[in-house]
Amino acid sequence: MQEDFYESVSKPLRNKQIFEMAKGYAFDYIDGISNRNVYPKEEDLLKLKNFYEPLPQVGTDEEEILSALHQNGSPNTLAQTGGRYFGFVNGGALPVTLAVKWLTDVWDQNSVLYVASPVAGVIEEVCEKWIVDLFGLPAETAMGLVGGSSDASLCALTVARNTILERNGYNIYENGLMGAPEIRVVLSENAHATIFKALSILGIGSKNIIKAEANPDGTLRLDKLPELDERTILILQAGNVNTGAFDKFDTLCDLANEKNAWVHIDGAFGLWAKTSKEYAYLAKGIEKATSWSVDAHKTLNVPYDCGIVLCKYRDAFCKALQANGEYIIYSGKRDGMLYTTAMSRRARAFELWAAIKYLGKEGIATLVETLCRNAKTFAGRLSQLGFTILNDVVYNQVLIQYVDDEMTKRVLEYVQNDRVCWCGPTQWKGNMAIRLSVCSWATTKEDIELCVDSFKRGIEYTREKNLN
Ligand SMILES: Cc1ncc(COP(=O)(O)O)c(C=O)c1O
Repeated sequence: MQEDFYESVSKPLRNKQIFEMAKGYAFDYIDGISNRNVYPKEEDLLKLKNFYEPLPQVGTDEEEILSALHQNGSPNTLAQTGGRYFGFVNGGALPVTLAVKWLTDVWDQNSVLYVASPVAGVIEEVCEKWIVDLFGLPAETAMGLVGGSSDASLCALTVARNTILERNGYNIYENGLMGAPEIRVVLSENAHATIFKALSILGIGSKNIIKAEANPDGTLRLDKLPELDERTILILQAGNVNTGAFDKFDTLCDLANEKNAWVHIDGAFGLWAKTSKEYAYLAKGIEKATSWSVDAHKTLNVPYDCGIVLCKYRDAFCKALQANGEYIIYSGKRDGMLYTTAMSRRARAFELWAAIKYLGKEGIATLVETLCRNAKTFAGRLSQLGFTILNDVVYNQVLIQYVDDEMTKRVLEYVQNDRVCWCGPTQWKGNMAIRLSVCSWATTKEDIELCVDSFKRGIEYTREKNLN
């Protein structure tokens, strides 16, 4: 019986027909990406009901599985690997990183420990050096690879909390959090939602969080900065999710370092500014912080999920995230689980390594500059149509409004239904706005023009509706 099972499951590995089939579907998808609607069509969305079926009692043919996924799944994706997806801050995927993902998915490595995958360990170690170099961080900085910036901030803030408590004579490892001295967190009132989530998981409640007054672009007001001390975590942001604005790291880090406070920078998509000569001024001083979170799956255009956590203190990092067990064999080489909350993990370093090797430092700078230039072009063209650009487009985020909240809502409704591109709503300073995040390597000038035409039709539709 067991032999039959082995025979039937391993057959496709020998014959490779289902891999050929998957490859064919993937190529169909790739070939259609620039001409398709960005958001699924209504008639395609109906196909999603095909997934709701009772638990299969017997197995299904591999070809049927792949075919069902391609027929019902492919058209119901968001075309975010194309050039006209501007929703959230998602980023596309460089072709080489997808190809590397395909190959390394076949390896199916667990990057938990060096002994579990020497190649994953070595490539992760190489990426650490490259990333530290790219961002110009202190040479001793350690890196962990996680699912995204949410996880990265959670890891970094865990290290921050534990280290601050230890420095203040409290052993959290022995005593736990109950009865620990208070920690204060200072951040902008516009800090990202995931930061508040991480703090809440870490037992830092709203009473311990000081939301400092922000400038109109969402960055911290230097003149309103609350007192910092050795029990403070100052959380800064490289790239506000609405305006794309950057905190004044140089000055803020100096102030924090004078007081021995911990500085964490949430640089999910913005930290990459440091790699470009033209935009490095935005990230000036980031190297003076203590920890950082950043995503490769955003600005660097690596496939999901590839978050990066960085911390200046390797020992504290590993201590805070340590797990021990009789069967856990630390090697003294690269043991990836020491830098994350997870144990078993997909080996994310392969795609990160491929992106950096493919682009090189210069190519990464060009990618960042291209995204920023596209954002400026987009903003300029939309302004010509009559949109108000609500932010100073310093990076890749464009925030627009058309006349008032109601008209903006209608234009957005039209554009979303038009499906030429996709972008989402946001609230900015109490007003409804449309947010465009220009994050994909694949966006061309033609893409921007197609999108501008869609916005133009959106205005005409809205005006007509207003007259009727
Ligand atoms: C500034 C900032 N921080 C954190 C996050 C969360 O990142 P992730 O979705 O990778 O967890 C985002 C997501 O867009 C972000 O823009």
